[in-house]
Amino acid sequence: MRKVVISLGGSILVKGEDDEAYIRELVEGLASVSDDVRFIIVTGGGKLARDHISIGRRVGLDEATLDSMGILATRMNAWLIIGAFKCVDVYPRPFTSLEEAIIGASAKKFTIGGGTHPGHTTDAVSALIAEMWRADLFINLTAVDGAYTADPKKDTDAERIPEMTSKELVELVSGTVRGAGSHSVMDPLAASVIHRAGIRTMILDGRDISNLLSCISGERTHGTVIAPGE
Ligand code: UTP
Repeated sequence: MRKVVISLGGSILVKGEDDEAYIRELVEGLASVSDDVRFIIVTGGGKLARDHISIGRRVGLDEATLDSMGILATRMNAWLIIGAFKCVDVYPRPFTSLEEAIIGASAKKFTIGGGTHPGHTTDAVSALIAEMWRADLFINLTAVDGAYTADPKKDTDAERIPEMTSKELVELVSGTVRGAGSHSVMDPLAASVIHRAGIRTMILDGRDISNLLSCISGERTHGTVIAPGE
């Protein structure tokens, strides 16, 4: 059995348009390629997390508590995926720790959860799980089709990077500001875990499900390939 960890950004999962259809298509697609694969899926908090963190910060909550609110949002999103799987072989609740994710995956084909501890994002949770589980592949599903030289939503000169090393990824995200709800192509902690553990990683457009399924099946994929190494 191959082991695949997917980090599913919350803003992909609940985008505010065709969310139910997207979730159904994603779940059916993953089930269709799961004959020889086990999955751990880590859902982000998206707009739900960001809106609550923003209001919470304005009313005076501390950053650790804001992170805990963000974690609750990630778990609400995890329930959406668990619910959509219905009769497939699924761990029956969102995991709440790295260890529970590994235990879930030892029994079930699909294990789903969100955040674990304050201080990082679900990308870091996904990378730590990939390290502990010795995953064959880590797929980071984002709102854009790969890692870019700059934020493509803000900088029209930004270019997609088709291939990079894990060391280059660490360098690319090293300037990211940390704080509840902060956002970049990947959490710096996740990048450093990918680098130290030598995890094969892909960054893909989360809304392009056929591309995701090609990636899982080992076919040609559009996105960014992160090769372990310097
Ligand atoms: P996300 O992982 O969703 O962050 O967690 P993100 O990258 O900003 O958002 P999307 O989903 O890719 O759009 C949301 C927030 O929850 C807290 C952090 O504050 C994070 O920004 N969180 C999440 C934690 O503190 N610990 C965790 O393990 C996960």
